[in-house]
This record gives sequence, structure tokens and C-alpha cells, in this order.
Amino acid sequence: MSYYQHPLDVTRLPSWNVLEEHRLAMQHFNMREAFAADPARFEELSVSCCGLFLDYSKNLITPQTRALLVNLAREAGVEQAAHAMFNGEPVNASENRPALHTALRRPMGDDLIVNGTNLMREVHAALAQMTDIVGRIHNNLWRGYNDKPITDVVNIGIGGSFLGPQLVSEALLPFTQQSGVRCHYLANIDGSEFREVTANLNAETTLFIVSSKSFGTLETLKNAQAARTWYLARGGTEEKLYRHFIAVTSNKQAAIDFGIREKNIFPMWDWVGGRYSLWSAIGLPIALAIGMHNFKDLLSGAYSMDQHFLHEPFETNMPVLLAMLGIWYHNFWGAQSYAFLPYDHYLRNFVKHLQQMDMESNGKSVRQDGTPVSCSTGPVIWGGVGCNGQHAYHQLLHQGTPLIPADFIVPVVSHNPVADHQEWLYANCLSQSQALMLGKTRAEAEAELRAKGLPEREVQRLAPHKVIPGNRPSNTLVLESISPGRLGALIALYEHKVFVQGVIWGINSFDQWGVELGKELGKGVYGRLTGYDSPPAEDASTQGLIDFFRGRHRG
Ligand code: F6P
Repeated sequence: MSYYQHPLDVTRLPSWNVLEEHRLAMQHFNMREAFAADPARFEELSVSCCGLFLDYSKNLITPQTRALLVNLAREAGVEQAAHAMFNGEPVNASENRPALHTALRRPMGDDLIVNGTNLMREVHAALAQMTDIVGRIHNNLWRGYNDKPITDVVNIGIGGSFLGPQLVSEALLPFTQQSGVRCHYLANIDGSEFREVTANLNAETTLFIVSSKSFGTLETLKNAQAARTWYLARGGTEEKLYRHFIAVTSNKQAAIDFGIREKNIFPMWDWVGGRYSLWSAIGLPIALAIGMHNFKDLLSGAYSMDQHFLHEPFETNMPVLLAMLGIWYHNFWGAQSYAFLPYDHYLRNFVKHLQQMDMESNGKSVRQDGTPVSCSTGPVIWGGVGCNGQHAYHQLLHQGTPLIPADFIVPVVSHNPVADHQEWLYANCLSQSQALMLGKTRAEAEAELRAKGLPEREVQRLAPHKVIPGNRPSNTLVLESISPGRLGALIALYEHKVFVQGVIWGINSFDQWGVELGKELGKGVYGRLTGYDSPPAEDASTQGLIDFFRGRHRG
């Protein structure tokens, strides 16, 4: 029986118990000493693939820890689970669906038959449809209502229909085509965001992509309606609306009902999760910015990571290693959060995408078969671009009480060299992981203060504040520079990391029932805010806040 039909209780596996014992033995493990004792530690605990280099030597591990973690992954059936996902088995059991984002990056001719259908035909037909519209827009053959070429595209979508495309189109700005268009993103149902996004746009030359797998998401539909009103108020006509509104959705009829022409609707499929959809036509804004050949390089990079994940032994398998290190800290050291610290302006949106990818996927407390999990799942994902974080929240990483593992991500080469900035940026990245690992002992702190000539009483008063515990774990991912291929590999790396952790915990990483309750209650609250005869809210707090709003809007 497959892992998703009968998930294991991972805490009952022999390898889990062995890891618990090993954790106790590692209580006083010290990274400084480990590096001093083993000159080959860096070589031993680093790996490269798909244009990415991962140094994981600054972790609370020995080669034996790695062997035990890999054993756990094997015993939990990660390999079989990966094949089940790639082959299109219904690994999303609560929705009885496959999770086939990996199909979106398979090359032409690499057939995938699921329930008698070759899905690759549909995938490549959608890519051809994308190629066609990108070509027409870039060659000024697609024109607005008064025949001017399109200069700006506004992607109207939220969650996975926003975060992945925004991350990639902004990360790959240096690859923007001369003929490309400017991309804007409208996600929130906040009038201020609508105003700011549309403020400098010209309705004659703006194309809206209504991007929604379900075509039922409130924020997206409200923004799409507002965009239509905006367009009509600026000289656009209903007859020419088709030149300004296209859609990406698996709910074709709803898009047609909105007024979008059938041939301007790009497909999505229920076998692709929203947070894994940037590789589909949901990535259209990316392709419009950087061109189809770059978009295809992005897919190829992800495909090479897929192959690595499927075929590389676990000991050198990058996604498996990252996943198991995460399990090590979350389940055996009690780390409740995980920081991502990209040292590159172009990766500044990476954390937002990872938050949805990880927390919406693995924020679950029952296993695939509905039984409660027996260990903690889903850490809090947070972080942001370095060096900015150094002057804000890194203090907590260095001297706070919680253990927070971190991934540093840094390119060697900048797309925009300015004086020696890249050397300093890279140096800052490395010195942060070094500081986390080395820390500063009491003796070092005291010696430093004495060297400044402070009296001994001052030395003793200040020293405790200057001690930095160190021994704090991190990974460093280095890439030569940000390119479509390497970015594709990087994103796919984390998708597989999240998947592996989901398998270990026995949960369904591809549904998101938790977000539904808020949506349902939202309708009731809206009714009470706007309708005068609606029944009171279920609780006094919510009713009080409703009354406050109504009081402010009266008259
Ligand atoms: O509400 C959560 C969610 O369903 C995400 O999983 C998804 O990415 C997002 O909303 C947007 O959904 P849609 O593409 O259907 O508008």
C-alpha cells in the first residue's frame, strides 16, 4: 500500500529511536571543535548539483548523524513516495489528486500517462499557447483598444497565483527582454494596493491577466472587477475588452462568464497545486518579462533538480539532505522556526514564496489517513534579504534564546557590479554564518574588553552582554550568479525539501483545508458589516469589532 494511503507513524520507526539516542549523545557537540578536529569536514559535508553548491558543514552533525538521518528517510519510504508523486499517483489523498508540478518541466517527448491520458500533450500545448501570446505581445501584434502596443501587464492573483510569478519575474529582471513588458502584481483586496498599482498605468496599453486556478478567489475576482471598471472608465470599451483581459484558470466557464474570450484562457489543472504552479501558464507574466526561451531555461533548471532528487543517493541528494537537517532541528532539537537569508536584492521575494510553499504545505496536524501526527510538523518560515536583516533581526539569531537554523543563499557574481560591493555582500553573508557558528566565549569577551584598557569591574559588568553562544547551525547555498536555470533548480530544491518533510511526517503536503474556514466566516462578517438585519456574530469580540466599523461608517 502506498505511503499516502497508509502513512507510517515515523516516531515508531527504529531509525527514529536511534536518532533520539544520537541526539542525547550530541548534546555537547561543538562545531568549533569539530572543525579543528577534522580538516576534511567542509569537503565531507558539502555537495553540488544543478549549478548550486551546498555547504552544510556548519551544522550540529557528524557524518554519523547524516547516515542516521538518511536511514530515517529510507525507512520512511521517501524514495517510493517520490516515485509515486512523479508518476501521478493521487498523493493528495484528501482531494484524491496527483501533485504533478514536476510534469510541467518535463521535456518534449517524455510522456506521462495518468489514467490513460498523456498529460505531456496538454502541458506542451499550453506552452505553445504561451509562446504564441508572448510572441504576439513582444512583436507588437497584440494591441490595446485603440491599437497601441501593450507595455504593461498586471497579474491579478493571490497566493500561488502571485508569489511564485512575482519572485521569478523580479529575480530575473536582468533577463528582461527589450521587447518585454513591465510586470505588476495586484493581490490584496485593499483599495490602496489597487490605487498604487494602477496609478501610473495607461489603460490603452495595459493587459490584465486574471490568474486563478479556481476562478473563485474573492480577492482576485474583486480586483478583476475593479480593473474592468478602471479600464472602462478610461476609454476602454466592452467590445475591445478581450484585448485587455486574459485568464489562467482550470475553471474555464467562470472565466468566460467574466467576459474573457475562450481562446484567451490558458489552462491550469487540478493536478497542480497553487503554490507549485509558477511552472504552468500561471508563470505567463514571467515569460512576458523574460521571453519564452528564458522561461524554458527556468523549467530545465527545475527538471535537472527533479532528476537529481529522483536518482541521486540520499547521502548526496541535496533536497533530501536539506529536508533531513530540517527534521533534525525541528523534531530532535525543538527548533520552531527556520530562517532564510538570501544575500541578493533579486531574491528579496524568495522568503514570501517559501512561506507559502512550506507553511501551506506542511502546516498540518493529521496524517494522510486522518490520524493525529505524533510529532511536531511545519516550522515557522521567516527571514529576508541580507544585509538588511543583520541590522534588524539577526540579533535574535546570535543571542536570543531560541535555536533558529538558517539557510544563507548567495551568488558569487552580481548582475550589477558596483565598486567592491559584491565582495562586501559576500563577506557579510559568510561572516554571519561564521559568527553564528563561532560565537564569542566569556574568555574572548573579557580579553577584548581588557585590551581596550577597561578597569576589571567594567570588564566583569560588560562581559556577559558580549558573550555570544555560537554553535548555531546554518547551511550556505552558493550559486555562480542568478540565471533562469539556476533559479529553477533552487526553487525545485525547496519544493522537494518540503515534500520529503511531508513524507516523514506522514502528512498531505498538497491540500490546505485550514485556509477555508476564514473564507467561510469572512462572508458572514461581511454580511454583518453591510446588512442591517443580519444576526449577531457568534462571539462578542467579533460583534464588538463589527459595531466599531459600522459606527465609523454611519452617515
Ligand atoms: O486560499 C489558499 C489558496 O487556495 C492557495 O492555495 C492558492 O495558491 C490561492 O488560494 C489562490 O487560489 P486561486 O489560484 O484558485 O485563486
